Amino acid sequence: MKSFHGKQAIVTGAGSGIGAALARALVAAGADVVCADIDGAAAERTAAESKGPGTARAARVDVTDAAAVQAAVDDVVARAGRIDLIFNNAGITWGGDTELLTLEQWNSIIDVNIRGVVHGVAAAYPVMVRQGSGHIINTASMAGLAAAGRITSYVMTKHAIVGLSLALRTEAAGHGVGVLAICPTAVETPILDKGWMGDFDGREFYRVGQGSTKFYDADRLAAQTLAAIERNRALLVAPRRAYLTWLFARLAPGLLQRLAIGFVAKQRAAHPPTTEGTRV
Ligand SMILES: NC(=O)c1ccc[n+]([C@@H]2O[C@H](COP(=O)([O-])OP(=O)(O)OC[C@H]3O[C@@H](n4cnc5c(N)ncnc54)[C@H](O)[C@@H]3O)[C@@H](O)[C@H]2O)c1
Repeated sequence: MKSFHGKQAIVTGAGSGIGAALARALVAAGADVVCADIDGAAAERTAAESKGPGTARAARVDVTDAAAVQAAVDDVVARAGRIDLIFNNAGITWGGDTELLTLEQWNSIIDVNIRGVVHGVAAAYPVMVRQGSGHIINTASMAGLAAAGRITSYVMTKHAIVGLSLALRTEAAGHGVGVLAICPTAVETPILDKGWMGDFDGREFYRVGQGSTKFYDADRLAAQTLAAIERNRALLVAPRRAYLTWLFARLAPGLLQRLAIGFVAKQRAAHPPTTEGTRV
C-alpha cells in the first residue's frame, strides 16, 4: 500500500489482538509504528514480529494516563516532525449482569474505553490540525451501533466512541484530517476470554448474538481498516453481514429492542446470574 509508506503512526493496545494486527499491517505497508500498550512486554513482542519495509518500536503506555499518551505523541512529533496516524484501539470489557458491576468496574471501562480514546484525540488532533493532515482511527465496535444487555457498560463506551468519531469527523474534514471508527462484531482475540462476571460466557454470548460459530479474523480486519483509511470512510462495519444488523438497528430500533430483551432472557436462562467469581 503506497499511501502508508513513511507514515508516522501510534497504535494503542498494540500488544494483542486487533492492535497487534493493525501494527503488523501498517509496518508491512511501510509505516513507522509505535506499538503502545500497558503491557510493555506484549508491545515488545508485537514490535519484534512486525516485518518491514516500515519500522516498529515498542512503548509502555497506559491510555488512562493523559500525560503518558501526550508524551508518546510528542515523542513521535519530536523525532519525525509530524504524526500521521493515531489508532485509539486499547480497550477492555465487562460481561455479565449489570447489577454485579462495581463502581470501580464502571470507572475502569470509562477510563480505558472512553478517556483512553479522548487522551489520544486530545494529544494528536491539534497537531494534525496544525499540519493540515492526519487520520484518527478509533476502535469502536458493533456494540457502538446496536445495543444488547449483559455487556451494557461496554455498549455505553462504544456508543460514545462512535459519537465522538462521527462528530469530530465533520470538523476535522475542513482541516484535512480524517476520522474513522471501526465497528466489528466479535473478533478472535484474547478479549473474548476476559472480563466475565458471574457465569457469563463471552464466547457463547457473542456466538449466539451474531448467529455464527466463527469469530472474525483480526488480520483481515486490519487489512480492511487500512483500505477504509485510504478511502476516508466514516465507519468500517465488519464482517459484511453485520451491515444487516446495523441497518436493522436504524430502521427498526423498537423491534431490535424487543429481540434484545428476548436474547438476554434466553442467555440468562442458559447461564443464570451468580455473584461468585469474576474473570479478569
Ligand atoms: N475482539 C473483539 O471481539 C472486538 C470486537 C469489537 C471491538 N473490539 C475492540 O477492539 C479493541 C482491541 O481489543 P482486542 O479484541 O484486540 O482485545 P485484546 O484484549 O486482545 O487487546 C487489548 C489490548 O489493549 C491493552 N490495554 C488494555 N488496557 C490498556 C490501557 N489502559 N492502556 C494501554 N493498553 C491497554 C491490553 O494490554 C491488550 O494488549 C478494543 O477497543 C475492543 O473493545 C474488540
